[in-house]
Amino acid sequence: MTAARSLWHEGAMTTPHKIVILTGAGISAESGIDTFRDGGGLWEQHRVEDVATPEAFARDPELVQRFYDMRRAAVQTKLPNPAHVALVRLEREWPVRVPGGDVTLVTQNVDDLHERGGSLRVIHMHGEHLSAWCTACDARSRWDGPLIHRPACPACGVPALRPDIVWFGEIPYRMDEIHEALSEADLFVSIGTSGAVYPAAGFVRLARELGLATLELNLERSQGSGWFHETRLGAASEIVPAWVDGLLDA
Ligand code: APR
Repeated sequence: MTAARSLWHEGAMTTPHKIVILTGAGISAESGIDTFRDGGGLWEQHRVEDVATPEAFARDPELVQRFYDMRRAAVQTKLPNPAHVALVRLEREWPVRVPGGDVTLVTQNVDDLHERGGSLRVIHMHGEHLSAWCTACDARSRWDGPLIHRPACPACGVPALRPDIVWFGEIPYRMDEIHEALSEADLFVSIGTSGAVYPAAGFVRLARELGLATLELNLERSQGSGWFHETRLGAASEIVPAWVDGLLDA
């Protein structure tokens, strides 16, 4: 029996129509972008309190800007991997394969590898590297260069730009859209996330409460693994294309 049918075989569901996918740092790991909590990950190299909180930015804006300038430059040298590409195929073919079918892609990642892979609709709930947020006029501008030299905001001219990243203690973006998508979906799939950070880590429980089938694709079991109907372990570049092929070619 192929793994793809296990959710169906257990009667957990019929063919899903609306699918919500949540991705985390693990989907970009094989593109050469560090994850946060794996061995040698970002939060082993840097203290969250120094670089990823509004308090850190108020205390030492140069340290924070330098950290994100470095990551913003690095991300632009990386390429999408087969996991990103497989999700693009699903986004494009699922509505054709299943009348009324739809895929909502929510990511915790701040890189643009989903978009460079070809994804057209991505909800970046934790913000984006390639966006700058003006704390004077609240405008957001596409931005691919450094911010440490305090450039002027393209909208208001004030040198008040910060990384458009949701820091710890700040409210994630587009939560209403995410909840609405979950409330209309049949299947929730989590890819490459440790389930360590809320509210994203709580989506699987909400999905279960809403009666969705739930599937986890990850290198190792996440903190929320017990809430998933099914967990498949492996590298995203292998298990995500296999899952998508299983769904589209079934
Ligand atoms: N394929 C699949 N999964 C992988 C791979 C891979 N090649 N490499 C690592 N993983 C898995 C790890 O097993 C781990 O469960 O990806 C997960 C990465 O977890 P984290 O580093 O905690 O990243 P993430 O869950 O995305 O972090 C959530 O925390 O620091 C904040 O805002 C930041 O969005 C981030 C949030």
